[in-house]
Amino acid sequence: MTFEKNILCIGAGYVGAPTMAMIAAKCPRYKVQVVDIDREKIKAWNSDQLPIYEPGLDELVKKTRGRNLFLSAEIERGIQECDIIFVSVNTPTKGFGQGAGKAADLQFWERTARQILENSAGDKIIVEKSTLPVRTAEAMERILNGNPKGIHFDVISNPEFLAEGSAVKDLESPDRVLIGSRETPEGVKARKAIVEIYANWVDRDRIIESNVWSSELSKLTANAFLAQRISSINSISALCEKTEADIDEIASAVGMDSRVGRHFLKASVGFGGSCFKKDILNLVYICEGYGLIEVAQYWEWVIRINEWQERRFILNMLANLFNTMAGKKIAILGFAFKADTGDTRESAAIYVTRGLIEEHAQIVISDPKALDNARKDLHDVVDRVAFEPDPYKAAEGAHALAILTEWGLYKELDYKRIFKSMVHPAFIFDGRNILDHKRLFDMGFNVFPIGKTPLKHF
Ligand code: NAD
Ligand code: UGA
Repeated sequence: MTFEKNILCIGAGYVGAPTMAMIAAKCPRYKVQVVDIDREKIKAWNSDQLPIYEPGLDELVKKTRGRNLFLSAEIERGIQECDIIFVSVNTPTKGFGQGAGKAADLQFWERTARQILENSAGDKIIVEKSTLPVRTAEAMERILNGNPKGIHFDVISNPEFLAEGSAVKDLESPDRVLIGSRETPEGVKARKAIVEIYANWVDRDRIIESNVWSSELSKLTANAFLAQRISSINSISALCEKTEADIDEIASAVGMDSRVGRHFLKASVGFGGSCFKKDILNLVYICEGYGLIEVAQYWEWVIRINEWQERRFILNMLANLFNTMAGKKIAILGFAFKADTGDTRESAAIYVTRGLIEEHAQIVISDPKALDNARKDLHDVVDRVAFEPDPYKAAEGAHALAILTEWGLYKELDYKRIFKSMVHPAFIFDGRNILDHKRLFDMGFNVFPIGKTPLKHF
């Protein structure tokens, strides 16, 4: 069968593989290839046990794999065969040298650009899918177009806005698709070629075209705004705990103003995930580079409040467990950075667990999907932590429960049974405000939500 378009994606991670699976599903006339240097990951993508958990992803991959979606480690061949190449490699925070701890580490991205150049014999469109500092496209154009072969590359920015846990839904009906290019005739032509792909299933009025710099910077700004809302509500949660105000009531009252909106106002133990922190730090670094110190500081405080919220959670546990956790068994329910994913990157649970270990607590971690990742995150302290998939067993003999991920199953547990199996007085620290606090209090628990007056029996 001859395909209408040959599309390649370099990077088979949380973004690359699901995005390409969706393109393959919606565009059966296109051949879509996904390549990665990680052979084990590719093997998993081609097996029944996909390397990531996302609701609806198994079905999507099964439907398309081998039909018009192909996953392999053959990067060079992929580059040779395709004229549209999405690059979705990781862009973590740089851990060394200038900008360490803040700047984006672009080594994977630049390596990919050079590999594309080496293996290209004709003109190509390169699509930035990874989240990148504003003006990266300029650097890419310099690397790619400074070639002696006379090949021309158009660099397009098409940032991804999917959230984990809802990736398939977000890809199927995105709020918007953003496609930025140079405003030159070739740039606009390349942009239109990418618009054409998405127009197979996304309404045209949701596909935004812009200049390439706006597109790159919109992605960093979107994540900064989302994280800022969480830090804003979390900062007020601390004030609620001092004043008998209720953070959920406040979020509802504030969010009903249509100018504010109700999303992303759920107070929590702190936001996690692979991107909020790294993207804001990157934004801070860029602002500092342009001498915009006040702007940098403004955004840096979003991160600082988040770290403070995590720390506050630990200190609150300590204060209410009679100022000592040494030797006490604490059951952590939920380790993923949010529900419906096994991803634990930057999860608040990592910081809370480490804080509790420093207090010499005995930790048992339970999570329906994230225990493998939890073991890796805590590899240096595994001898001080137990991992137990069954939440009832995890809670047996515990002094306290800490709810750190909003998994639906934790709302449905038989807390009477759990209460009986715990050491008394029994405590629940609900870092997600998902439980029925009054009911738990009536059962005998001492309950400590976020941003609400605690319900204590003494
Ligand atoms: P990931 O770590 O899950 O996947 C990246 C993949 O790229 C890895 O499998 C890695 O092996 C591969 N890779 C690295 N260098 C390579 C090379 N030279 N050749 C081939 N493969 C290579 O990362 P991710 O979560 O998918 O994120 C990718 C990008 O998308 C990041 O810039 C991130 O900020 C952005 N993003 C992520 C999300 C998310 O929810 N995870 C959402 C929106 C945007
Ligand atoms: C986030 C953005 O929502 C996506 O649009 C973006 O594409 C992605 O980052 C990215 O660039 O990687 P994600 O990190 O997968 O997606 O998940 P979110 O739903 O944004 O949650 C992030 C964290 O904030 C989680 O720990 C979540 O529990 C927390 N959160 C979220 C709150 O504490 N309160 C809220 O009201 C919402």
